[in-house]
Amino acid sequence: MAGLTRRTFLSSSSTLGGVIAIPLATGCATGTERGAATAEAPPMQIEPATVPPAQRLDFTLDVNGRPQRVTVDVRTTLLDTLREHIGLTGTKKGCDQGQCGACTVHLDGRRVLSCLTLAAQVGARKVTTIEGLAGTGGGLHPMQQAFIDHDAFQCGYCTPGQIMSAVACVAEGHADDAAEIREYMSGNLCRCAAYPNIVAAIEQARGSIRRA
Ligand code: FES
Ligand code: FES
Repeated sequence: MAGLTRRTFLSSSSTLGGVIAIPLATGCATGTERGAATAEAPPMQIEPATVPPAQRLDFTLDVNGRPQRVTVDVRTTLLDTLREHIGLTGTKKGCDQGQCGACTVHLDGRRVLSCLTLAAQVGARKVTTIEGLAGTGGGLHPMQQAFIDHDAFQCGYCTPGQIMSAVACVAEGHADDAAEIREYMSGNLCRCAAYPNIVAAIEQARGSIRRA
């Protein structure tokens, strides 16, 4: 299946999911009836999920300095809006329950868990994701460079959230020493346990961020 990526496959299969036929016999039946029902009952059709207009919202988010018009269910999280509606997949979904920090982004410079933030709550606040952290000239942010310099990742899945959290941690004034960094970065889990390298990276970037 040349040209078929995992993303396009999932996207097309979720569309197809609406018309998948599931041959289920309903109610209680004798063995004979059950056999007949299984053989002859028409397949149950599952209708595509639809969002009633009353539950849809159409609004514009300021993401990485650009206006992004979205139409989403009122219950859609900022994380899903970024990834599924705007196409910014740098922000990662780990637990989707507010426990791992992989989804950390900034709202007006303050770190938030985008899996626990409804897109509709964001309003006029400026959203910054890992894609918007680098300078306009394309150079890496000092925190991104420090993570590279200190090898502060292995699989890299937690890294966007770690970096967004680390930038905010320094801005908050909570990065004076290793113990404080560990405390204020404790909401960001790393299953590869790259913690010593992450702390070293933050200590390196701290000075240049404060001078900027
Ligand atoms: S995905 Fe948001 S905290 Fe884990
Ligand atoms: S680098 Fe793998 S989870 Fe952090």
